[in-house]
Amino acid sequence: MKEIKICIAGLGNVGSSVIQSLVDSKNFINLKSNFNINILGISAKNKNKKRIIDISKYEWFDSPLDFLNTDCDIVIELIGEEKGLSYDLVKNSLKNGKHVITANKAMLAKNGSELFKLADQNNKYLLYEAAVAGGIPIIKTLKNNITLNKVKKISGILNGTTNYILTMMEHDNLSFDKAISIAQSKGYTSPSESELDIGGLDSAHKLTILSSLCFGAEIEFKNNYITGISEIKYEDIKNAKNLGYKIKLISESLIVNNKIFSITSPKLISMNNPLASVDGVLNAINIETDQLESLFLEGEGAGGKATASSVISDINEIFTNINVNSLGFKINNLTKYTKFELSNLESPYYLRIMTQDITGVLSKITSYFKDSNISVEKILQLPETKDKPIPIIITTHKVKTETLLKSLEQIEKQSFVLDKIIVIPLDNGQE
Ligand code: HSE
Repeated sequence: MKEIKICIAGLGNVGSSVIQSLVDSKNFINLKSNFNINILGISAKNKNKKRIIDISKYEWFDSPLDFLNTDCDIVIELIGEEKGLSYDLVKNSLKNGKHVITANKAMLAKNGSELFKLADQNNKYLLYEAAVAGGIPIIKTLKNNITLNKVKKISGILNGTTNYILTMMEHDNLSFDKAISIAQSKGYTSPSESELDIGGLDSAHKLTILSSLCFGAEIEFKNNYITGISEIKYEDIKNAKNLGYKIKLISESLIVNNKIFSITSPKLISMNNPLASVDGVLNAINIETDQLESLFLEGEGAGGKATASSVISDINEIFTNINVNSLGFKINNLTKYTKFELSNLESPYYLRIMTQDITGVLSKITSYFKDSNISVEKILQLPETKDKPIPIIITTHKVKTETLLKSLEQIEKQSFVLDKIIVIPLDNGQE
């Protein structure tokens, strides 16, 4: 039996669950592999916090940087800071010849370019299965399983909190504010994390990593277009349903005309898109390749146990020596893609225009559309209560985004338009 010595920094939900799973699975691991996993050291901000595990059995380090003075093989970083101690620990561990496992998507999306090069120079693994979609083995699927497929497009729901909020709004007729407070009370997101979740940044961090794995793209977070879900109202969800769609926070990445197009944004998707039936805190990812029309993975995107499952799979990967290119592609062969201009995107759109209830509003709006050659697919006027602004709901056929936005800019200037026009891309599976 080979002994694998690990040190763990960060003992929150995920860190504690990793230790718990390793303890619970000790015999099972011995049935499946030729190694024993020995926890050489642990470290966290607060030693005395109540945890699901008994930490007195393990050697405590006040600073995880002192792990570097031990002969551990793997440093597991579960602190979760975008820079700071997380970054210092990962960087110095790699420099000191340790393999690193992390669940830290923000750190990788922002500093991955440097850190993956460092791992390569030191011939060490920097693994991160837990950083994207919790327990779903999306990283290994792309890196080790469909490695010789050329990915055409990856799209998914990469944030459980926002998916939970949208699901609650739809199923329980809740307002956005009510749904987010339930998500917080259930522990899916905390007030400090909510901005990352709701604002779409957490999904974009994950998409940055996936784009690199799929297309051999240099890790460049600035290549993302990001819109969160805070402008989505219960009415939009209801309107979408009436039109045969669901609103989901979709992250997708593809190469268009040799440029990278990576976008996280609310989107209306048709009911027959498999992502439409992914509800609650679940995550899901659809991959289209030259060899597979659709590979769909769905599962728990967060939570201690699910994320610990991914961390432990990385320990296994290191010692079974599967693929030392941490990003799948050789690090020196990554491509620095230019960002595809969103204004050039052609897509159908959903629009909500809040207007006064006066004669001629509809014909004025459609006359602007006619001038710009924008073709309306459906139009609904849905007065809720008297004396309130009237929502006019429009879906368009495929239109160049720049053309649509220019026309909406004109419409927004009209005195009968009472609020910012809500513009959401739409995927009807046809156009
Ligand atoms: N906050 C994330 C989510 C989980 O809600 O999906 C960790 O990435």
